Amino acid sequence: MDFVAQLKSSLDIVKVIGEYVRLKKSSASRYVGLCPFHSEKTASFSVHQGHQFYKCFGCDAKGDVLKFVMEIERISFYEALRLLAERNGIEMPKRAEYSDPDPKLRAAVHSMHEIAERVFRENLASKAGAEARAYLDKRGVSHAAAEHFALGYSGRGALTKIFEKQGFTGEQIEASGLLLKNQEGGYFDRFRNRLMFPIHDESGKPIAFGGRALDPGENAKYLNSPETPIYRKSLVLYNLHRAKDTIRKGDRAILVEGYMDVIGVYASGVTDVVASCGTALTSQQVQTIRRHASRIVVNFDPDNAGSNAAERSIQLLLAEGLLVKILQLDGGLDPDEYCLQRGADAYRDKLEKAGGYFHWLADRARGKYDMRSAEGRVAAFQFLLPAIQGLAGKIERMTVANDVAGYLGVDAGLVLENFRKAASERRETAMRAAPVESVRPVERILLNLLLSNPAARERIVPALRSLDSVSTFVTRRVFQSLFALYDANPSFVFGELEARLEEKDQPMLHAALRDETGADELSIEQGLACLRNLESAQREVRRAELKQRVKEAERAGDLAGALRLAEELSSANR
Ligand code: UTP
Ligand code: MN
Repeated sequence: MDFVAQLKSSLDIVKVIGEYVRLKKSSASRYVGLCPFHSEKTASFSVHQGHQFYKCFGCDAKGDVLKFVMEIERISFYEALRLLAERNGIEMPKRAEYSDPDPKLRAAVHSMHEIAERVFRENLASKAGAEARAYLDKRGVSHAAAEHFALGYSGRGALTKIFEKQGFTGEQIEASGLLLKNQEGGYFDRFRNRLMFPIHDESGKPIAFGGRALDPGENAKYLNSPETPIYRKSLVLYNLHRAKDTIRKGDRAILVEGYMDVIGVYASGVTDVVASCGTALTSQQVQTIRRHASRIVVNFDPDNAGSNAAERSIQLLLAEGLLVKILQLDGGLDPDEYCLQRGADAYRDKLEKAGGYFHWLADRARGKYDMRSAEGRVAAFQFLLPAIQGLAGKIERMTVANDVAGYLGVDAGLVLENFRKAASERRETAMRAAPVESVRPVERILLNLLLSNPAARERIVPALRSLDSVSTFVTRRVFQSLFALYDANPSFVFGELEARLEEKDQPMLHAALRDETGADELSIEQGLACLRNLESAQREVRRAELKQRVKEAERAGDLAGALRLAEELSSANR
């Protein structure tokens, strides 16, 4: 990935623009606010999180995150890159060329990680790996699970010789983070006598390791790879590349604390599980999750550290617009211990019953404040307020608000008043949609669905393109470009379609997307229903046409022709 793509994928446009414009959420993936590029009183500036695109329906300003920063700061592309990189603590490649600072170095570091993963796995299978295998046994990790997660054993230091023999340079070896320099200027393995958990990027390439001490006397339980040219801790989630399909399909991710938890939960058949790699959850990691799913279940260890981490994570997750549930396991067990001791079914059962983060937070609040005093109860309520207002539906908010009141012993009037205030603020800033009469709902639904859901494309595009009625769409040119783009690359993104359209057709695309009916939650089934409607409408047209031609043939005395057409008509009726 070049630096521009990398930078863009690690940013969230909503977050970046949110620093300049007060944005309000208007649907699962859309935010609106007052346009910073022209003066207006009603919000017509819209930012689409899924498409990572902004668009003003008032002045037609639009583009991606880099374009926004260029325009608002009036700076060049390169300056915008640098500004965003700096602001987000992402190191800007040193060379003037910002695509890849040193492709050769990165390639070498990548291949060292591939070698290391292989060597560690061989070690685990070898005689030297007996102790590590016994440890895995004791922890209930099956051979199959160990293979699946590519677990390994570092040995007493196997990499140094191999890397030197392979002719990697000193610079490359140091950059890899896998070896360390000793006082004599030679190298030695960073990971020794550890159970190795390879960490992969989203495409499945090993980019780092976590190493668990096998010797209980060792003071660092886990030793993790340092940051390297191919590893940025704050961006990476453990197990994401294996879990992401399930995460997308189920629109849910489970977040646990540790490598072992991921493995334990995975082994019990719940595969949409990820962990941050030995760091507190970062907003970039949350944004990464957000790219794949809108729902998350936080399942941290049931100790103090775990609860504090969960509380921090909730705020971060809510800020990124995720729907958050908390899974709290009983018996003081970590997720992996729970799966092992209580069984996969028990874990899945707990998972299904996981409650909204709110109830969990309410219990935390009761622990934090003195619930015997009125002040304490109000403080507890205020602690919870932002979280309640993060709830999606109005009815749910009200229900929870009443719940809270009862639970905390707070006057229900206070709750209501707070809610009315928040609701009226929401109404004021809600975007007033201008009518888009010309684009029919089926066009809008199909376009939204095909743009936001790559799985829907496979099911719908082939059938849709064979329908004549597409040529009667107001948005037909948009659809035709979409079909062509689909042929070239079925997993195209919004920006590519837009770039392909002629200037005059772009408003059509935006108009079709400007749908306040919850387009973000469209399902494939809804798309298929549209398709069926179009098909049956088309059959209707065809039948009417045939009837007409039968009549004409009869009138013209062409009985053979009339008969043939009548047959066609009756087969069309079937
Ligand atoms: P845990 O201590 O809960 O580890 O830390 P775990 O994965 O459940 O491992 P077991 O069950 O004790 O064997 C959670 C995560 O925090 C990071 C690791 O990523 C670990 O998986 N961690 C923990 C470190 O980076 N360093 C440490 O010393 C401890
Ligand atoms: Mn553990």
